[in-house]
Amino acid sequence: MNKNILQKITIILALLLLAACATKSKNARIIEDFNKDWNFKIGDYPTAIQSDFNSSDWRALQLPHDWSIEGAFDKDSKTKQAQGFLPAGMGWYRKTFTIPQDWKNKTVAVEFDGVFKNSEVFINRHSLGIRPNGYISFSYELSKYLKFGGQNVIAVKVDNSAQPNSRWYTGSGIYRNVRLVASDKLHVAEWGTFVTTPEISKEKASVHLEVEVKNAAETEKEFKIVSSILNQNNVEVTQTESTEKISPNATLKKTQNFTLKNPILWDTENPYLYKIVTRIYEKSTLVDSYETPLGVRYFNFDAEKGFSLNGKPMKILGVCLHHDNGALGAVENIHAVRRKLTLLKEMGTNAIRMSHNPHSLEMMQLCDEMGFIVQDEAFDVWKKKKVTNDYHKDWDAWHKKDLEDFIKRDRNHPSVMMWSIGNEIREQFDSTGIAITRELAQIVKSLDTTRPVTSALTENVIEKNFIYQSGALDLLGFNYKHEDYKDFPTRFKGQKIIASESVSALETRGHYDFPADGVKAWPTKYGAAFDGNADWTVSAFDQVKSYWGATHEENWKTIKKQDFMAGTFIWTGFDYIGEPDPYPYPARSSYFGIIDLAGLPKDVYYMYQSEWTTKPVLHIFPHWNWKEGQEVDVWAYYNNADEVELFLNGKSLGKKTKQNDDLHISWHVKFEPGTLKAISRKDGKVVLEAAINTAGVASKIDLKVDKPTIKNDNYDLVYVTVSIVDKDGNLLPNANDLINFEVSGGGKLVGVDNGYQANLDSFKASSCKLFNGKCIAIIQSNGKKENIQLKATTRNGIPVSVLDVKVN
Ligand code: GAL
Repeated sequence: MNKNILQKITIILALLLLAACATKSKNARIIEDFNKDWNFKIGDYPTAIQSDFNSSDWRALQLPHDWSIEGAFDKDSKTKQAQGFLPAGMGWYRKTFTIPQDWKNKTVAVEFDGVFKNSEVFINRHSLGIRPNGYISFSYELSKYLKFGGQNVIAVKVDNSAQPNSRWYTGSGIYRNVRLVASDKLHVAEWGTFVTTPEISKEKASVHLEVEVKNAAETEKEFKIVSSILNQNNVEVTQTESTEKISPNATLKKTQNFTLKNPILWDTENPYLYKIVTRIYEKSTLVDSYETPLGVRYFNFDAEKGFSLNGKPMKILGVCLHHDNGALGAVENIHAVRRKLTLLKEMGTNAIRMSHNPHSLEMMQLCDEMGFIVQDEAFDVWKKKKVTNDYHKDWDAWHKKDLEDFIKRDRNHPSVMMWSIGNEIREQFDSTGIAITRELAQIVKSLDTTRPVTSALTENVIEKNFIYQSGALDLLGFNYKHEDYKDFPTRFKGQKIIASESVSALETRGHYDFPADGVKAWPTKYGAAFDGNADWTVSAFDQVKSYWGATHEENWKTIKKQDFMAGTFIWTGFDYIGEPDPYPYPARSSYFGIIDLAGLPKDVYYMYQSEWTTKPVLHIFPHWNWKEGQEVDVWAYYNNADEVELFLNGKSLGKKTKQNDDLHISWHVKFEPGTLKAISRKDGKVVLEAAINTAGVASKIDLKVDKPTIKNDNYDLVYVTVSIVDKDGNLLPNANDLINFEVSGGGKLVGVDNGYQANLDSFKASSCKLFNGKCIAIIQSNGKKENIQLKATTRNGIPVSVLDVKVN
């Protein structure tokens, strides 16, 4: 048959199948966004569970929501420095909603992706349960308390008052998404599927699916279960079905096997995703439909050769991330996550360590879609505390359930390739660590044997480390001490090893101290001391590290040479709120990021890009606005070239080439205003040019969007980077002007930030001071189908700037 006709027939068949599903799916599972129309108030309101409670003075809002980020920084805050001096406390959420009469025969559940913390959920005055862990996803069945066809009241108490309870910023509230799910009494259980691909070759992959079906009805049911594998174009490629019987109020486990011919493999460059749609039919009526992501890939950790994906050796080039979204606080938003991951992908990152707790569904989904290898991490503390009121208090009662739920929720994500049961856990120095490690590893193995169990260990006298001693780890994770890596193959013969955490260098975007050579440590341990700057900045030359860590260059030079080392996770991809080492108040966010809190890359971003990608890179810094005659160090990160020549106002300052294992080149230059230009060449041919001009008089507010249009869905975000430029468009690198924002039309301002770690202005203000020339404004759709206008104004003499964002 002619190829075109065949293609057309396939498309028509696919459309018919879709149409068939659409008509039948009327009866299948209904998933509703449950984020809208909540009321909220800080404080404790136990009577809010009553239906006649008057909440007229409560604030109306849309979830996800974090009340900590809305508060003021307070030096005496109970949350302390580690959590960024922001408030916590107690708050209540409440929502009145109707449930259709015709859901009477359904099972209705509410799903929370994460509530920080100690939540208690009430429906029509009945407590559904408590959940201390602020990072875990959980759900409750509501059916038996609901008024079908009538008004219902859901109330959620959130108690984050016992402080301090974390080593980083947590946020407070229902900070992730909430859904209402109505399914037939006969349905696939929550997290009720588990897919694995036990054998993969070029010709075929065997796919193994376990499905747990629940019958909440009082009668026995006979049903057909049909699972189809759909390719990335939503075309079914194979399916399997069987007919089953299930008793009343029972669950049944069914295994389904498939053969996938000529599978397209998932990898970090082409993260090809299939999905499995499991449908349940009673007689011929579709009663439930449930989706499971499927990525076909295999990987291996080897004690000598490190990591390989689909048989290809590669290094895990990872970063650690905390869960906050900068100015949005802990509020989860898929667009914020996509922006973070896009920046990291462009840098060459291929892996994320979910430090040190379960992250959101959106994060997991995007790692699958965008091709990141995930180290999924459950805990930062076990039974022994790190901070007065942290998870150790809940350990005995909850760790088993939390760990099981975490694995069940995440085990279908092809991106997940390691389960970390803990970060620098105190029990590593205590013999109780042996039994706990074995217990946790066993819990993980009972739910998934396809990924190694790891834990991020502190390397000091590791042979005496009890987590290691347990013998229950499949993969040893080491944090820091890069100087010792070379001895690991002899010290840990036959062990698989990854640098679970490395670097912890300190930098402030756009701030430069001279001279730029030599490495300083904070606090002093060895080498020169970093004494700090009066304005709480740290130079962006990769020069200052915490004493337990390394500079970015020191670490990467070491890792790249060690074949046995599966890879590295840099602490951290982005600055995060809290843990502002090396400074006390007013510093309130971390200095460790390769990218600042506002999402603006620091210079070292380009070192990684030059090493971790193959695209041509030439990045020179610092800016070119100094005092006449000042001695300035100029650094360049480059790749794909033999040499770089630097010119000042057309005069060559010499050619340089990286020697040995250098990762940058540098020049000492006496400053004169004008143009600093670098040219990289390979075999005499120009590869790239990069130039920085001395900026003149401020002339305009420059507004740049990360995307030109926004969806009118109440969620979509546009990030605007704001700077002041001269008449030729050159950035004023020292500008610190206050910029006022006004947003009209289909959007609202939801956050501002300039990435300065000691900025105590509110992230929720309608203005922001530029820091080292830049800041950002985050605009969110307000649901109106109107184009958005952002007006930015500043001091006299600089005209108002207006930016239009189209709504689509
Ligand atoms: C590590 C720890 C991280 C972070 C980091 C800062 O030891 O695992 O959570 O605190 O230090 O350097």
